[in-house]
Amino acid sequence: MEQTFTVKLEEKRYLPDPRCKATAWTPDYTRAYQEFMRDPEAFWDRIARELSWFESWDRVREWNPPYARWFVNAKLNITANCLDRHAAGSRKDKPAIVWRGEDGAERVITYDGLHHEVMRFANGLKSLGVGKGDRVCIYMPLVPEQIVAMLACARIGAVHSVVFGGFGPDALAMRINDAEAKVLVIADVGYRRGKTVPLRELASEALAHTPSVERVVVLRRETPAVELDPGTEVDYADLVARAAPDCPAEVMDSEDPLFILYTSGSTGAPKGIVHTCGGYMVGTYYTARHDFDIKETDILWCTADPGWITGHSYIVYGPLAVGTTVVIAEGTPDYPDPGAYWRLVQDLGVTIFYTAPTAIRMFMRYGDEWPAKYDLSTLRILGSVGEPLNPEAFEWYYRTIGGGRCPIVDTWWQTETGMHMITTMVGEPMKPGFAGKPIPGAVMDVVDRRGFPVPPGTGGFLVIREPWPAMLRTVHGNDERYRAYWKTIPGCYTAGDLAVKDEDGYIMVLGRADDLIVVAGHNIGTAEVESALVSHDAVAEAAVIGKPDPLKGHVIKAFVTLRVGVSPGDGLTDDLARHVRKSLGPVAVPAEIEFMDRLPKTRSGKIMRRVLKARELGMDPGDISTLEE
Ligand code: WT7
Repeated sequence: MEQTFTVKLEEKRYLPDPRCKATAWTPDYTRAYQEFMRDPEAFWDRIARELSWFESWDRVREWNPPYARWFVNAKLNITANCLDRHAAGSRKDKPAIVWRGEDGAERVITYDGLHHEVMRFANGLKSLGVGKGDRVCIYMPLVPEQIVAMLACARIGAVHSVVFGGFGPDALAMRINDAEAKVLVIADVGYRRGKTVPLRELASEALAHTPSVERVVVLRRETPAVELDPGTEVDYADLVARAAPDCPAEVMDSEDPLFILYTSGSTGAPKGIVHTCGGYMVGTYYTARHDFDIKETDILWCTADPGWITGHSYIVYGPLAVGTTVVIAEGTPDYPDPGAYWRLVQDLGVTIFYTAPTAIRMFMRYGDEWPAKYDLSTLRILGSVGEPLNPEAFEWYYRTIGGGRCPIVDTWWQTETGMHMITTMVGEPMKPGFAGKPIPGAVMDVVDRRGFPVPPGTGGFLVIREPWPAMLRTVHGNDERYRAYWKTIPGCYTAGDLAVKDEDGYIMVLGRADDLIVVAGHNIGTAEVESALVSHDAVAEAAVIGKPDPLKGHVIKAFVTLRVGVSPGDGLTDDLARHVRKSLGPVAVPAEIEFMDRLPKTRSGKIMRRVLKARELGMDPGDISTLEE
């Protein structure tokens, strides 16, 4: 952003039913925020004491910018909170996970059952030589075993790196190699739109280039069962059957790593965001409970995949730490028909529903008749995440799904923040288009390049001013990239988003300020797509931009120059799309490819995506003084 700009803010408010506020975990946002600001350490101390620890902390936080430590020297295991605490008490027989397969198959796993499954798989991992600090990569469809695998790693102190099952072999190999994972856990297949996704085949392509992997655990779903390679592969069911039933939770230091999760960088390779045990547990537990206002009888359905941070924090760790029932479903929102989600809400009596704007906009397009067929009266709270929830989508979600009765919690956060940072707390007035205010616990602002707050109505950079418990601690193997987050604007963590505040302090998120593209809620780096394109024989250079799309928020448009002698003949566009799909997976495939003679570049040779984008959108390209002749 070269200069400041003003945004016209529409003032529309929705007041939730006063009863929501009266019973909310945070009944008075303003008071809670003030209490937090008066003494942040006392605030977090009080929340952390609601959880169980093997040993308490010496200090709540230590801040040597840009490095923070939380719950210093405390000892814990996050699974003791997500499992043992509930299984040993009144939640023993309460469903922890309710799973629906695409074909309608259902599995209910109680807290006691999950506790035992996790311990067995944890012992299974140990028998493969996995120990504290070792990395385990998980590449699975949305089945309960995916969550069991994550928790089993946490149980023994192994660091999990979950790779979304929609990624392709190159994306998988890069992530395995960066983390030097010792074991890979996969399923033979996933099911999507009635078709099988050959995860094991995709994984085996990746495994040709991943020397660190010693063993592959395979969950076999197909009948007849696929034959395994006895040299490298181990059957999931066998491993669990042979394992001892009890596995005590490993004693972890608060600052020991819990997991690595890759997120696209604006330049270069994806970044392995590192989260640690203590602060992440406290941050996700607190936000799950307070932002979704979880009560004992609630049934929470977060439609994300555990392969994204949304799933890590609000399917697995946060809700299970609270002790709620979570619903997971394999498959897509409009299969076998556009009523699939609403049928599930009705069948399972879902009370808290958390999804992405791209899904909401898709449902809007299918029309009101689909949700009208089902009884959605159990719904109590509706959440949104991933990109701005535009006012039209807000209205539709609020009226058609929520019946004008459910508060909408639009949550702004990132892989890096680990936990929600902005939302409109249940019971507070809602403003369509605005995510809301920083939660009690987050100190945020909208500032100019030098870090000075911009006035209401003026756009600026969204920043976080103080450390928070679930913040990333580093970028795996590249601490320089971690420090970069705190360097762009003095004294602040720069989120990379543009935003604007109104007079009441509500924040409207406008989108990314850098070269990331958020497609249907998935964060895609331009660099990764460009290098996939360039790896095709016909391509000389490539530049990709995000192009606004009414359904997906943004889609990817690629500009490509071809090698000398190659012409954009028949089928090249399709071939390039196939090539990207094969290498990175369907999420990264450009919606449009345009062939050019040359790309606009700076004199120093950097591709000016900004110029391409302005041309594409019919906008002023801004300062082009650095553009080469
Ligand atoms: C980026 C982070 C956090 C889980 C999903 C994506 C965008 C996220 C919102 C929201 C507007 C949002 C931002 C952010 N974003 N939530 N409620 N309103 N924008 O995680 O892949 O790390 O992406 O998603 O641009 O920086 P992620």
